[in-house]
Amino acid sequence: MCGIVGIIGCHDISTELIKMLHGLEYRGYDSSGIAINLHGNFQIYKKAGPLSILKKEIAGITLKGRSGIGHTRWATHGAPTDTNAHPFLSSKSSVTVVHNGIIENYKALRDKLSDNDYIMESETDSEVIAHLIELFTIHNPDWTFNSLVAYLSTTLKGAYALLIQFADKPNEIYGLRFECPLAYVITTKTVAISSDIASLITYDRNINILRDRQAVHLSLEKEELINFDSTEVDKLHVNVDWDIKAAEKSGYDYFLRKEIDEQSNSVRALKSALIESAGKINSFIKNTNPDSVIFIACGSASYSGVFASVFARQLELKQTVSWEIGSEFRYNPPIINEKTLVIGMSQSGETADTVTALRYAKSKNAKVISVINVVGSTISMIGDLTINLSAGPEVAVPSTKAVINQFIASMFFIEVLRTQDQDSLNKWLSTIDDLAVAIKQVIAMEDSIKSYAKLLAGHQNMFIVGRGLDYPISLEGALKLKETAYIHAESMYAGEFKHGSISLIEYGMPVLILLGDKSVALKTIINAEEVATRGGQLFIIDSLEGEKFDFSSEVNYIKLPHIKNPFNLITQIVALQLLAYHAGLHRNINVDRPRNLAKSVTVE
Ligand code: M6R
Repeated sequence: MCGIVGIIGCHDISTELIKMLHGLEYRGYDSSGIAINLHGNFQIYKKAGPLSILKKEIAGITLKGRSGIGHTRWATHGAPTDTNAHPFLSSKSSVTVVHNGIIENYKALRDKLSDNDYIMESETDSEVIAHLIELFTIHNPDWTFNSLVAYLSTTLKGAYALLIQFADKPNEIYGLRFECPLAYVITTKTVAISSDIASLITYDRNINILRDRQAVHLSLEKEELINFDSTEVDKLHVNVDWDIKAAEKSGYDYFLRKEIDEQSNSVRALKSALIESAGKINSFIKNTNPDSVIFIACGSASYSGVFASVFARQLELKQTVSWEIGSEFRYNPPIINEKTLVIGMSQSGETADTVTALRYAKSKNAKVISVINVVGSTISMIGDLTINLSAGPEVAVPSTKAVINQFIASMFFIEVLRTQDQDSLNKWLSTIDDLAVAIKQVIAMEDSIKSYAKLLAGHQNMFIVGRGLDYPISLEGALKLKETAYIHAESMYAGEFKHGSISLIEYGMPVLILLGDKSVALKTIINAEEVATRGGQLFIIDSLEGEKFDFSSEVNYIKLPHIKNPFNLITQIVALQLLAYHAGLHRNINVDRPRNLAKSVTVE
């Protein structure tokens, strides 16, 4: 959460900083701020609320200066107010800092600063950093980049990406990375540094990525990269092949809707990536020869693991396939050893709970495959093997195209465990072309889906139910409806309903039934009838082959085009995305940025 940026060498520095922050708003939109260094004096503007409020604040003010840093916030410590917004200025105005992450020992550091007569203005954990650096430079007038990094890395506990500017070094920026992302580019005229490559590619596509526990000192003349522990630096460059247009709205009202449309292309891109890496995955799995496979992830990303575990049972795999939530894993771990294959799923590649869970698994000698959508992300560097979801940049906070690719990638791993035969795998992958067509056909049904979304938008509560492979899809649908339309949608095993939750059914209560898993569909229908009999309002999403099923009462029926199992279940996710999107619009929600959320969850 939180996005940080810095730039040196531009004429219109405030416009550049705002432009860079614009690309990071998905990381948090509780407040934003910029600090510009003008001949040794900092001009700081910061406002609560989204970036548009800051833009209004500085419109018409001529801001000179050739370097600066900026921040967009997802609040953790301290309410989203102007005072709690970053950047923070040290007491004697010698240092400004922007911070992404959490300083866990900030209370002790505050006490230490008070003993030195420093007064905190904000309630944040981050403000201490600016004062500490100032105090450090006062006590160590001959400080160097290395001594500063040594001091900060031993003093700050928690997680951080930091950008630091000194008043008396107007054309220099210092950046530190510890468990939060940071990358930079250098051109002949400009140096830019950011939490995300999306805000760097307008300057250069050749991106330098800081590894964990690295720090960089940048100016137009100099680039100095060091490891916190002074060991030899292993530089990481990536060349980004996507165009900045891929991260723009391109005429759509919302990124979310654009990203739903992009899915028929993004599944094809994943197909190509999997064809290319099938050999590597195959030999990795052969060499590991795992007894058990554990998918680890959070939120929507975790449901692809649920799906994989059901799919594995249906295929009667010899390995045990299970799934774990990142935030719980370390505190209640299963037995893990060198015969355990752990698959970490994360579109951002930065989810702190998943990062720590994967590190724990590695410490127990498990073999780890990282599945990410952001090259150079933290999780991409943890895996013994890393697979790119290839969904392209995803901006809307509710994840769509990355999630669909996570489901497909999970299914693919199960297929590889079932058969190591390359021809069978290629044949399996070729069904993705049918899926790409089916996704377009589902989107073409938008008008009828929209009319059902309107009905759902009038309710605060609903259930989504399914059995077998439909259950993980119901989890994803429920989360999408919660985050995008603020409807309390509860996912439920269809057969579990009668064991308690059915008592909530009263006249008109919406219950969405998923019919994509043929092996259990008739059983699910019996459970649906039990709900309808008690006055529940049935909505059906059916991706099975053949005609619609008959129900004894009136139902709101979405019959999807059929494609081969289990790919048909993926089309149900698309229908659920459209339901959530339109229900959200009916409820006047900014579906790209639902309240209280951020796209990259870098705190535990
Ligand atoms: O970046 P990740 O895939 O690790 O993110 C995991 C979850 O935070 C994410 O899937 C979240 O649940 C989304 N908001 C779902 O739309």
